[in-house]
Amino acid sequence: MGDRLIIEGGRPLSGEVEISGAKNAALPILFACLLVDGKTVLYNVPELRDISSTRHILRKLGCGFERRADGAIEVEVVDAKRYTAPYELVSTMRASVWTMGPLLAHRGRAKVSKPGGCVIGARPIDLHLRGLKALGADIEETHGYIDLSAKKLRGAEIYLGGPFGSSVGATANTLMAATLAEGTTVIEHAACEPEIADLANFLAAMGAKIEGIGTPRLVIDGVDRLLGTEYTVIPDRIETGTYLIAGAMSGDGITLKNTAPDHLRAVIAIMQQTGALIDEEPGGTMRVSPPPGPPQSVDVATLPYPGFPTDMQAQFMAYMATADGMSVITEKIYPDRFMHIMELNRLGAKIRKEGNSAIIEGRAKYSGAEVMASDLRASAALVLAGIAGEGKTIVNRIYHLERGYERLAEKLTSLGAKITRD
Ligand code: EPZ
Repeated sequence: MGDRLIIEGGRPLSGEVEISGAKNAALPILFACLLVDGKTVLYNVPELRDISSTRHILRKLGCGFERRADGAIEVEVVDAKRYTAPYELVSTMRASVWTMGPLLAHRGRAKVSKPGGCVIGARPIDLHLRGLKALGADIEETHGYIDLSAKKLRGAEIYLGGPFGSSVGATANTLMAATLAEGTTVIEHAACEPEIADLANFLAAMGAKIEGIGTPRLVIDGVDRLLGTEYTVIPDRIETGTYLIAGAMSGDGITLKNTAPDHLRAVIAIMQQTGALIDEEPGGTMRVSPPPGPPQSVDVATLPYPGFPTDMQAQFMAYMATADGMSVITEKIYPDRFMHIMELNRLGAKIRKEGNSAIIEGRAKYSGAEVMASDLRASAALVLAGIAGEGKTIVNRIYHLERGYERLAEKLTSLGAKITRD
């Protein structure tokens, strides 16, 4: 099969869709398996390219990694002597920097290829290194690798705030390492994202002692070892939000199953301000229908959780381009995460960038064209515009979508969209 999606737009969506497990929770949880003695069984791990990349890296680092017939993933460390995450694997996925904390804490050494630039921005890892250094790591940077070593990590008080607020990645790395450090670690300005809370709950299920889960102050009392456990990953809030927008843009209502609405309060509130109708039912079911009239324009700034997520910015922009008036979306996490503007404009949107804001004129009628996906969420925005528009949209490089949306084309097809892969 090829690397593009062909969308015949203008078909209304209806029916029911099952939300998958959260990619960005499953990834750190899988890397945390490097900390464990024994076997870990994980449920609700989505089948995605980023998860296959993680399988390659964990196998390279001496782990067994199998997906069972029932969909659960089993990870078991069989050779705890390896400590190198090489360039050819790290370069396929930035999240591989999450090998640093666990390898350092459990094996005393981590040699990890430095991640390169990224289409959504510079994405430095200075805060990751600040956290691990505070725990006692010696750090050398040579030949494109970061080489970290420590005989024994020691608990410390660490402030992890950066120029854009808290860091999901740095919090995860420091938290994982601190679980096996000697003594108490306090992480101030920790990321509060549900994916970090899920990682912390998973670590606690394995025997880690962590207080303040879900808050900006994590207190970790180091333990000698963590033991294998069974754990279910939370639903993907960004996938949920993407389908909420799909349901608000076309058709007369869709139902989303297996969601965690509490993780989406900002998105739900802002969608409601646009006029979209959203109902929650017990058991994680949500229903969304388009606004009764044209969507109202709403200004949004992306912020760390519980603010509006940067990972929903592109999809929301695709929606706001059709709103009844002008809106401004300000990106406060990745000021350059706007590659989708030009492609949305090719589909008929009228959006311009000013600094770290996008000024969206509104009242666009999308009309199909050939476009290029630049990153995961930008690609999702193009698909949303293609579904809502008239005519044929061809989204090239859907490789990006496969990194983070489980069976996107199949799920949208089951809701009535006409999408084929070519
Ligand atoms: C995670 O990236 C997610 N990735 C991203 O999702 C998400 O956009 C981001 O968090 C913010 O929510 C995964 O979970 C795999 P950060 P991460 O460290 O951890 C700056 C997607 O589409 N910073 O919270 O890399 C950084 O440049 C992906 O699924 C430093 O300055 O994000 C950014 O401006 C894309 N120094 C801000 O902090 C550092 O050492 C937040 O980044 C680390 C980060």
